[in-house]
Amino acid sequence: MSEKIPEIKFYCGDDVPLEMHKVRIIQKLNLVPVEERQRAVTEAGNNTFLLQNRDTFLDMLTDSGVNAMSDNQLAAMMVADDSYAGSETYTKLESKINELFGMEYFLPAHQGRACEHVLAQVFVKPGDVVPMNYHFTTTKAHILLAGGQVKELYYPDALDVESTNLFKGNMSPELLRETIAKNGVEHTPFVRMELGTNLIGGQPYELSNQKEIYAICQEYGITLVLDASLLADNLYFIKTREAAYKDASIRDITREIADNSDLIYFSARKLGHARGGGICTRDRDLYLKMRDMIPIYEGFLTYGGMSVREIEAIAVGLEETMDFHMINQGPTFIEYMVDELTRRGIPVVRPAGGLGCHLDAMQFIDHVPQSEYPAGALGTALFIASGVRGMERGTLSEERNEDGSEHYSNMELLRLALPRRVFTLSQVKYTIDRVTWLYENRRMIGGLKFVEEPPMLRFFVGRLAPVSDWQDKLVAKFRADFGQGL
Ligand code: F0G
Repeated sequence: MSEKIPEIKFYCGDDVPLEMHKVRIIQKLNLVPVEERQRAVTEAGNNTFLLQNRDTFLDMLTDSGVNAMSDNQLAAMMVADDSYAGSETYTKLESKINELFGMEYFLPAHQGRACEHVLAQVFVKPGDVVPMNYHFTTTKAHILLAGGQVKELYYPDALDVESTNLFKGNMSPELLRETIAKNGVEHTPFVRMELGTNLIGGQPYELSNQKEIYAICQEYGITLVLDASLLADNLYFIKTREAAYKDASIRDITREIADNSDLIYFSARKLGHARGGGICTRDRDLYLKMRDMIPIYEGFLTYGGMSVREIEAIAVGLEETMDFHMINQGPTFIEYMVDELTRRGIPVVRPAGGLGCHLDAMQFIDHVPQSEYPAGALGTALFIASGVRGMERGTLSEERNEDGSEHYSNMELLRLALPRRVFTLSQVKYTIDRVTWLYENRRMIGGLKFVEEPPMLRFFVGRLAPVSDWQDKLVAKFRADFGQGL
């Protein structure tokens, strides 16, 4: 595997990731006692989305909208040009997108799912099937709402948590041909490839794979849409894992990705370390089909629901994404965490991906059946043990089948996201320590059941309860092992 930072070698051989930035602004953290953590998670309906930050020590829920910004981003925010129409700030972002992606047309939106809303409403009609490497929760929800369906075309080992495949995000060209043949071009509104494939553990795809998929799309005249929310991580992995791009610059790889697609959308809560989103294309017809949705749902074409300050920050953040030393922090910290947990025999998604470290709840607590939401249960157990807030990425995050039965997820993951440049190595080590304690006490962990279940995207606000008093016993064991310690 690649070296962490090629230019820097440790004399004593300590292979730890090294930050290429310094911290100038800090935010104080609070670690409340284990009994308080249990109270907090109970009040939150055993759903980590509903926890309050004041009860949370390390917030590893997501990397969305919570990445550390740079001095240059903050400085740019102070010179934002605020106006409803024709803002100079908007022009700066549009130019940066033109420059990096070579795409002339840009539509701003308030975040990633707003782009998905526009894409689904404009292109997807009832009976359509959208092939993709893997779905994301909000993407799928918007396609279903428009009457369409999602067809995932990953390789079998994409879901194997111990795979050695460095590109589990790849899409199978053979399956794509089969799917198009089965559904017909007229029912294939677009093909979607997600960079840094979120739900299978932030796994990248190869640029050569995207090129192969694009060639098929072109052959059939089907639009290739990229979800570039996790572009930064995928860029890092293309450069460090895909031999043909070892010596290519991040800027050149970015351009090649864009050149081999028709449309790119992104959540700027991830890409560009700010808050917002947008859709870009070089195809005027595609642009015109989507354009009028923006003023209706998002805001005028020169802000699209974003604050101009955030637009300034995105423009700078996109440029900073071209700097290898800016984008390597996340993946190298995650690799450290994955390696340390693996060394202790703890099941995590491998190879290390971007976005976060993913515990495999299916193995971690193999005595908890999927009907009792193992990844969600593990999330509450870890919060009680550590004050670390993770996110369930398993059956809870799925929609029920049309007949109301559970749709069991392919994987039961507890995602510990590492917002970029936010946590220190000692905080990562604390998390590893508490996960290790929990693993040694894993047989104490039980399942969860729904108390309140919303019909869509239930993981956001649904409320659950433990199936037994296992959480009380876990707190008692923590006290026995840690004494008065937190
Ligand atoms: N696509 C991907 C790959 C994402 O990871 C996300 C968001 C979206 C689209 C939607 O973007 O949040 O700006 O509306 N992922 C967040 C997460 C929510 O926590 O992984 P958004």
